[in-house]
Amino acid sequence: MVYRAFFDTVFSRMDPEKAHERAFSAIRAGRVLSPVVRTTDAPRTVMGIEFPHRFGLAAGFDKNAAAVPGLLALGFGHVEVGTVTAQAQPGNPRPRLFRLVADDAIVNRMGFNNVGAAEVASRLHRLRGRRVGRDAVIGVNIGKTKLVEPQDAVADYVESARLLAPFASYLVVNVSSPNTPGLRDLQAVDQLGPILSAVKDVCGQVPLVVKIAPDLANDDVEAVADLALDLGLAGISATNTTIARPSSLRSDRSAVDAAGAGGLSGPVLAERATDVLAQLRSRVGDRLALIGVGGVTTPEDVRARLDAGADLVQGYTGFVYGGPAWPSRMAAATA
Ligand code: FNR
Repeated sequence: MVYRAFFDTVFSRMDPEKAHERAFSAIRAGRVLSPVVRTTDAPRTVMGIEFPHRFGLAAGFDKNAAAVPGLLALGFGHVEVGTVTAQAQPGNPRPRLFRLVADDAIVNRMGFNNVGAAEVASRLHRLRGRRVGRDAVIGVNIGKTKLVEPQDAVADYVESARLLAPFASYLVVNVSSPNTPGLRDLQAVDQLGPILSAVKDVCGQVPLVVKIAPDLANDDVEAVADLALDLGLAGISATNTTIARPSSLRSDRSAVDAAGAGGLSGPVLAERATDVLAQLRSRVGDRLALIGVGGVTTPEDVRARLDAGADLVQGYTGFVYGGPAWPSRMAAATA
């Protein structure tokens, strides 16, 4: 509640990306502390990795692995860093991050701004050498460099995987962000198969996950599930942001239009993300781990996602609106 008053008076009046940068610096510096003491740790082994509990931070918040210890200190059980691309890139021009406050939602078209795989690898290398990083569960999410042509996507993903897998608890191939032209077309199995099998070859024992969009048709969700089984992947993450603008949005049409193109996240995404998760679970049985993400905002949402078949649950937008006490509240629901 205190955070929400702060959000409403301070953050909501700031440019959203500036607010993110301020909050991020404070978390990185260890200046943001959660008042909630964790008493409900419920370790769980998923994909052969021991997670302190089943709630983590979704990709996109810490794109460059710059604030992992501060994020873990707030109560996230794991942090998925990235999306990282093989080459450093600036992302799309600003403004590229928008809030739809009436919906506790975000629209973003960041476009994989990141320092590149080599630099992130060296940061993770340093972090793994510190006590706080050694046993931390850190997922590394990789994507295609914007300037690389789709026909060269395999080599680009492989380069990132080669550099980053040695420091990753698990690796995620992201083919579902709406903000790199053509990226989501890589979800078609004839494109996706060669990427996943080549990445799997270089990541050795590191569990491999593919992250999919909520905008896939049900048939395509099943095709990806079957491919993941065929290739011996460890899991699927469902879902990324949506390019849809559901009629259930409460924000003014003008606010939605003003944000423009990009991926929508937050509670409006929960229903479709849960449906995709449940569909995946019924398709794959217990042969794959599933990460449930998209619109998880309350402890009840965490429970519902676990009930729908998730082994792990993640959130991002709920953290922006919920503040520093939010991760621990969500974690408690996984016990
Ligand atoms: C994201 N998300 C994201 N996902 C990903 O795989 N790579 C990325 O770089 C990003 N970047 C990103 C930036 C911003 C500003 C947001 C809000 C989201 C998607 C995120 O990981 C998650 O899948 C969706 O946001 C849905 O979950 P929430 O936010 O509704 O909990």
